[in-house]
Amino acid sequence: MEIIVETVNLWKVYETETDKVKALKGVNLKLRKGEFSLLMGASGSGKSTLLHLLGTLDKPTEGKVLYKGKDLSLLNSKKLATFRNKKIGFVFQFHYLINELTILENVMVPLLLAGEKKSEAKKKATELLQIIGLGYRLSHRPFEISGGEKQRAAIARALINSPEIVLADEPTGNLDTETTASVLSLMRELNKKFGTTFLIATHNKDLEKFADNIYFIKDGILLN
Ligand SMILES: Nc1ncnc2c1ncn2[C@@H]1O[C@H](COP(=O)(O)OP(=O)(O)OP(=O)(O)O)[C@@H](O)[C@H]1O
Ligand SMILES: [Mg+2]
Repeated sequence: MEIIVETVNLWKVYETETDKVKALKGVNLKLRKGEFSLLMGASGSGKSTLLHLLGTLDKPTEGKVLYKGKDLSLLNSKKLATFRNKKIGFVFQFHYLINELTILENVMVPLLLAGEKKSEAKKKATELLQIIGLGYRLSHRPFEISGGEKQRAAIARALINSPEIVLADEPTGNLDTETTASVLSLMRELNKKFGTTFLIATHNKDLEKFADNIYFIKDGILLN
C-alpha cells in the first residue's frame, strides 16, 4: 500500500537552560494508507514528540518528515497550516473542544477554515456526528456532554476534512475501560470506512487488539 507519511532519520533535541534532551534519536517510520497502528512506550520515551513532528506541529532537529514523498519543511507557515488542516487530524488526551461553541459548531470549524460554505459545513458536520453516534447532542456545548462523548466529538472534528492521517495522543487516557473500547471501535470503524491512516500513542495494553501494527519506542529509539 501507498506510503502516506515517512520519517527519515528523525532527531529531536530539546534544549532547556540546563539540559539537552534527546527525545528522538534517528527514527525511521513509514505509515501506509489505511494502516491502524499503535505507538507504545514508557512515559518520556518520545511518543508525543514523534506525533508532534509527524503532525508538523514542531520541527525536527535533524532528519525529515515526508508526506507522500514531499518534504513539508519546504512550505511556508501559511501553506503548512492549510496542509495540516486538510490532511491531518489530531485527537488529544484532553479534547480541546471550544466551550463557547456547540458540538456541531466545533466540528464545523475545520471545514470553515478550509473555505467551505456555512450551509455545506453544517450539513457535513451533522452527517458525521450522526455516524459517530452524537446526532442527539448537536446543540449541546462541550461541558454539557460526557467524557466519552467529548472524545467522540473530538474524533469527528479530527475527521471532518477527510484527512489522510489521524494522529491521536492518548485519546482514551481519561476514559473508563468500557468507553475506551467504544471510542477505539469507533476509530477502527472509521478507519475501515474511509481508509484513513491512524497512529495512536498510548500506554494502554487493552488497545493492542484493535491494531494492525504496534510500534514500540524506547528512549527515543523506535524498536521495530
Ligand atoms: N518542550 C520540551 N522541552 C524539554 N524537554 C522536553 C520537552 N517536551 C518533552 N521533553 C522531554 O522529551 C522526552 C520525550 O517526551 P515526550 O513528551 O515525547 O514523551 P511521551 O512518550 O509522550 O511521554 P508520556 O507517555 O508521559 O506522554 C522526555 O524526556 C521529556 O521530558
Ligand atoms: Mg506524551
